[in-house]
Amino acid sequence: MREHVIAVIPGDGIGPEVIASGLEVLQGLAQKVGGFHLNIEKFPWGSDYYKKHGAMMPKDGLDRLRDFNAIYFGAVGGPDVPDDITLWGLRLAICQGFDQYVNLRPTRILQGLSSPLRDCKRGDLDWVIVRENSEGEYAGQGGRAHRGFPEEVGTETAIFTRRGVTRIMRFAFKLAQERPRKLLTVVTKSNAQRHGMVMWDEIATEVAKEFPDVTWDKMLVDAMTTRMVGKPSSLDTIVATNLHADILSDLAAALAGSLGIAPTANLDPEMRFPSMFEPIHGAAFDITGKGIANPVGASWTGALMLEHLGEKDAAHQLMQAVERVTASGIHTPDLGGIATTREVTAAVCDAIHSSKV
Ligand code: IPM
Ligand code: MG
Repeated sequence: MREHVIAVIPGDGIGPEVIASGLEVLQGLAQKVGGFHLNIEKFPWGSDYYKKHGAMMPKDGLDRLRDFNAIYFGAVGGPDVPDDITLWGLRLAICQGFDQYVNLRPTRILQGLSSPLRDCKRGDLDWVIVRENSEGEYAGQGGRAHRGFPEEVGTETAIFTRRGVTRIMRFAFKLAQERPRKLLTVVTKSNAQRHGMVMWDEIATEVAKEFPDVTWDKMLVDAMTTRMVGKPSSLDTIVATNLHADILSDLAAALAGSLGIAPTANLDPEMRFPSMFEPIHGAAFDITGKGIANPVGASWTGALMLEHLGEKDAAHQLMQAVERVTASGIHTPDLGGIATTREVTAAVCDAIHSSKV
């Protein structure tokens, strides 16, 4: 029996609701598929923890997570705690502390869902966004001076390193090569940003030589938004900087039907540290506690985690079960339905249980 030791951080807002759903689904799946076992340990870190202890996680938080095989993460953010504290105190602290330099965001239209784009059919939108996750505009470099005076200055410096850009390009080209269409779009803004982004383009051209069978092109980020809306089927694998991909991945999720279904993997591809898996949607305080959060994002996220742990067959079965449920019309309100988190969870568990494989 393969054992995977998972650290679970449900966090804030709807995080605990969707993570509870995801864990139920994953445990049911492990029983059904057999051959592996998930050993779960929960960590109560987040905004409530901050209010009690003055920090989002304990000082030795990273050390406590280090030996896990993966981290399953809900959401962070509190209406009464500043965003930069919740973010830098937990999620970014883990991403950067464990050098999870790839943020992977697959997007496609699941069965039974539709795109708000009039002519976009299911197969027309099947993308993977590779987001640089360790530097760029999220490098945390900058400062404030002369606070409150008319001459106050705030700087926010994006950092691009040859090492950081090369490794994300290699990952993206390799992923594109593994996908059937072998097609990569490199997003840039080198017309306006003439240092880091020009280096980004140059390194893309260099790395492309290692992957002669991958067809690739370059798109300015502004033009990319119109291409995503106007010609979704012309795209497959996409690589972009931390901030560009942050914005494009929200657009991608909306075009695929809802932010409530989209998953993310924060990966250390070299497996030196645990990777972290989270739904994209965030804390969603407007619906917290109402029992209507869409748990599909957490399930799809669970499938990404299983794939990373080498449980490819289980991951595939999980997505089949999820799509059987989305196809059957059992949808939460964000997808225009009336189902609750519990009802969707129960339906996914049933679909797993009744699957023949
Ligand atoms: C995301 C989110 C975060 C980000 C927020 C919560 C800071 O939007 O995961 O895309 O910008 O990275
Ligand atoms: Mg975002």
